[in-house]
Amino acid sequence: MSSFQVIVGSMLGGSEYVAEACEETLLALGHEVEVHLQPDFAQILNEKQTWLICTSTHGAGDYPDNIQAFVTDLQNTDLDLSSVKFLTIGIGDSNYDTFCYAAKNINKLLLSKGCSETVSLLTLDMSEDIDPEERSQQWINENKDHL
Ligand SMILES: Cc1cc2nc3c(=O)[nH]c(=O)nc-3n(C[C@H](O)[C@H](O)[C@H](O)COP(=O)(O)O)c2cc1C
Repeated sequence: MSSFQVIVGSMLGGSEYVAEACEETLLALGHEVEVHLQPDFAQILNEKQTWLICTSTHGAGDYPDNIQAFVTDLQNTDLDLSSVKFLTIGIGDSNYDTFCYAAKNINKLLLSKGCSETVSLLTLDMSEDIDPEERSQQWINENKDHL
């Protein structure tokens, strides 16, 4: 069993629904889960855990406003994050050249800080006819042995 910190980046609420769907699946798999809609780096860092990042992209490849402070603190930290495991779900729209850049960039940033990626990045393209919550839950279940 792992302790998951679900870190949400969302402007319009869609990624929150994805995060809540992931929470439901992780709880059903027997994990502990805390969802952070206003992620606070210092508070999250106090716990030994796996981070699940669920973030959309806005502007021209930008982070949603609510996750910007977390990203800045992560960029600036000198702490050893090698015990942190993570996985990332990006929600975006492939009509933008900057498809899922927020998720791709935070993924790179976490790797650069020494964190270990347990499952490769999942990107969800909202221009396709998909159910993002169902797809995310399926992805977690498919990878449950790596969590
Ligand atoms: C103003 C605006 C800018 C956007 N820019 C991007 C972008 O650069 N890259 C991308 O992949 N998606 C982009 N999107 C699509 C959103 O990421 C997508 O609609 C997502 O589902 C929104 O999730 P949220 O409700 O959690 O904010 C943009 C959407 C809007 C409204």
